[in-house]
Amino acid sequence: MAALAARRQASCPVLRGWGPAVCVLLGSVMVVLLPLVGVEEPCCAMLKGFALLRCQIWGIAQRPTVHSTSLAVPFTALDLLPLRAKPSRETELEAKAALQQALEMKKQGKREKAHKLLVHALSMNPDFVDALTELGTILEEEKDVVQADHLYTKALAISPCNEKALISRDRTLPLVEEIDQRHFGIIDGKVRRLMSIPKGNSALRRVMEETYYHHIYHTVAIEGNTLTLSEIRHIIETRYAVPGKSLQEQNEAIGVDVAMKYINTTLLSRAGHMAVSDILEIHRRVLGYADPVEAGRLRTHQVFVGHHIPPHPQDVERLMEELVQWLNSEEALQLHPVEFAALAHYKLVYLHPFVDGNGRTSRLLMNLVLMQASYPPITIRKEQRAEYYATLDTANEGDVRPFIRFIAKCTEITLDTLLIATSEHSVGLPEATHHACPNCRHTISIQN
Ligand SMILES: Nc1ncnc2c1ncn2[C@@H]1O[C@H](COP(=O)(O)OP(=O)(O)OP(=O)(O)O)[C@@H](O)[C@H]1O
Ligand SMILES: [Mg+2]
Repeated sequence: MAALAARRQASCPVLRGWGPAVCVLLGSVMVVLLPLVGVEEPCCAMLKGFALLRCQIWGIAQRPTVHSTSLAVPFTALDLLPLRAKPSRETELEAKAALQQALEMKKQGKREKAHKLLVHALSMNPDFVDALTELGTILEEEKDVVQADHLYTKALAISPCNEKALISRDRTLPLVEEIDQRHFGIIDGKVRRLMSIPKGNSALRRVMEETYYHHIYHTVAIEGNTLTLSEIRHIIETRYAVPGKSLQEQNEAIGVDVAMKYINTTLLSRAGHMAVSDILEIHRRVLGYADPVEAGRLRTHQVFVGHHIPPHPQDVERLMEELVQWLNSEEALQLHPVEFAALAHYKLVYLHPFVDGNGRTSRLLMNLVLMQASYPPITIRKEQRAEYYATLDTANEGDVRPFIRFIAKCTEITLDTLLIATSEHSVGLPEATHHACPNCRHTISIQN
């Protein structure tokens, strides 16, 4: 990371010594001039101009900070390799034409058409900053502030000094943070209700046991394991094989069961004192029955996950140390448990430190963080796979909040399931698609 920053600095001559000097000089000139002017408007214009100038000087070399989380994922691989092909000149022109048409439609009051044209422009050129901010404006006017904020954030990740996106995002960011905090508040309320149920409650015990098997079922099914819930239960309760099913699949289920038992008996009391070896031990159990050679071992090869190119293998050990330092840090421990758990999950899959089993290990790490904060472990259901992967992709593009919101939604579904199962005259279980927090609308995924 430091090498990368140094490389960036070296490649920008303005920053080699002169940048700071120019800033100091301009700052001093302003200090002298400001009291003389004494008029508010020109001062503001000057300050804005100075901010933009500073942005122009520094902005080129500095990746914009993505707001609202302390996520500090090194962008090693992303900086070195393009994620997707740049659109052709013709495609870019077509996207521009669609934007012009959209603006015309908006002028005529045809908002729906304008909306569709902007989505079309972005499907041709997903990094088209002007289309991102225009679509953001339309969504904001339609009161979809979360999606609008995401689009402004994406625009700023591409063009950190875009004035319209900067101003718009200043408007939406506090509102979105408030919505997210409100959602966390709703979750906390449900956790309190759950905690008030006596531990010995038989309905609670039964549903906790069910969710244990559910977790194993969904976590292996996400990648395509075909065992059914009852087969998984049979394998784990009896350790007898299910005829007609591959041993590999059965070993995957056993691995997750053993890893969960290890977490429950060994790691729950270790909040703030985690070690890299703890994560390796989880992985050793997850993969140990299916692939004993790779189990508990950091990878020594480059791996690829969809569009994502994880860091170079020679950096993995150091980055794992940094991840654990972060897991133990005050900064992380002070986050809301859902945000902490989601970021722990994201940071681990971002690194992808193992040849295989990264998803299962990351979901276990996420649940470990939740349980250490006295939250129940949660399940990402296999039907949610598309949304799960899409929010991970969005996180790789620079906005991790949709992934945190996704994990918050999973947490709420788990809590609702537990609460419904433990209350009398319950009416039915929540669906993976349900929305308990109607104001917390989802970030749209731009077609890549
Ligand atoms: N774009 C992405 N960026 C980062 N991580 C991703 C992305 N898409 C998927 N992932 C993560 O990678 C995991 C797949 O990696 P891997 O095959 O090593 O894990 P696994 O445990 O074997 O599989 P799975 O978790 O899917 O059962 C996914 O479960 C998901 O957590
Ligand atoms: Mg896999």
